[in-house]
Amino acid sequence: MSVSVETWRRKGYSLAAMRDLARRGLPRPVFDFADGGAEDEGTLRRNARAFEDIALVPRPLNGAAERDLSIELFGRRLSMPVLIGPTGLSGLFWPGGEIVAARAATAAGTAYCLSHASVCTIEELAAAGAAPRWMQIFIYRDRGLTREFVERAQAAGYDGLVLTIDNQLLGNRERDIRNGFTIPPRFGALDLAAMAGKLPWLMRMRRELPRVTFANYVRPGEASDIGAIAARMGAMLDPGMSWRDVEWLRDLWKGPFLLKGVLHPGEAAEAARSGVDGLIVSNHGGRQLDGALATIEALPRIVAAVNGAIPVLLDGGVRRGADVVKALALGAAACLVARPQLWGLAVAGEPGVAHVLDILRREIDRVMGLMGAARIGDIGPDQLFRQSKGSRDIALG
Ligand SMILES: Cc1cc2nc3c(=O)[nH]c(=O)nc-3n(C[C@H](O)[C@H](O)[C@H](O)COP(=O)(O)O)c2cc1C
Repeated sequence: MSVSVETWRRKGYSLAAMRDLARRGLPRPVFDFADGGAEDEGTLRRNARAFEDIALVPRPLNGAAERDLSIELFGRRLSMPVLIGPTGLSGLFWPGGEIVAARAATAAGTAYCLSHASVCTIEELAAAGAAPRWMQIFIYRDRGLTREFVERAQAAGYDGLVLTIDNQLLGNRERDIRNGFTIPPRFGALDLAAMAGKLPWLMRMRRELPRVTFANYVRPGEASDIGAIAARMGAMLDPGMSWRDVEWLRDLWKGPFLLKGVLHPGEAAEAARSGVDGLIVSNHGGRQLDGALATIEALPRIVAAVNGAIPVLLDGGVRRGADVVKALALGAAACLVARPQLWGLAVAGEPGVAHVLDILRREIDRVMGLMGAARIGDIGPDQLFRQSKGSRDIALG
């Protein structure tokens, strides 16, 4: 591990501190692109608040001198119950962002999920040797394009396929609109003042920026710049997708197949019946449907609906080891983090992402120890308590 990770550890840098460092180092439109949510950002805030509203109930006399954080997921052992979730344009935060983050995940013994909108291609990430690696896709009006993504991921040896179902229309991200977020970012004379302090990012990225695009969508004979592809992308997505598509993909993909963006228990139960291998309870980090419920609020009913048939993962607002422990106690198999790895990337590339995972690992370990849990499976809802807005508090177990 690099010296700087040691230094950050000595200084006690949390994920919030990494966010702050990222904010200082990135041009405002780039930071906001990662940080923001849809419309009033209510769901973005709700994800975090819902974690805060759950209190932990320790049982120290259970004795947990040694903790085992490892989990088994789809036949693979992961060293910790945290994976890196898909983020488009990670390569905007650090040169080779996706590859660098995936390497950090592999070194930490966990999985990395590549976004459809990566700056590197499906094949380039595979060639970097990161494992386990998952590929995230969408349903397009042109099912041939969806099939092409699936076949490329299969040929490139990806271990899991993730169909994101909450992005069939593009969310209304007003921060991006207000900031005039464009890629590559355009810097007018007025913006130069705002660029003070962002020069290291600009120096690192200056050769990359003209090449930053949605590499998986580049086709010979078509405009390959990001603006042209982004303009096509909205119209490519199919809001009419249905269970037929899920079943079609289930047959097409050989290996673990997950749905990401599930919030309704009925949909979760139907997924389990349709042969889906895993669910990611997600509201896209509040970037899509503002007003959607928090993921940790949705989790218990979804866990009950699938009744142990398939693993249920969760993302959205996981910023502390305690958040992970709360999700596990409510029946999640693991959590994913998305924005935090972008902060790690923005601060220092691979060691930055390594530090983000290291923070979470240490926090989970400490919280488990304080809770009296030696193994992940030892924590249950009896060790959680939620303060209700009304007169009665609710023990979750
Ligand atoms: C910059 C950015 C890009 C994202 N791109 C994708 C994407 O391409 N596909 C996807 O399924 N989710 C995408 N997401 C959503 C994340 O995978 C995740 O669901 C969400 O950010 C919640 O996790 P977080 O609170 O840890 O950020 C993106 C999120 C961010 C912040």
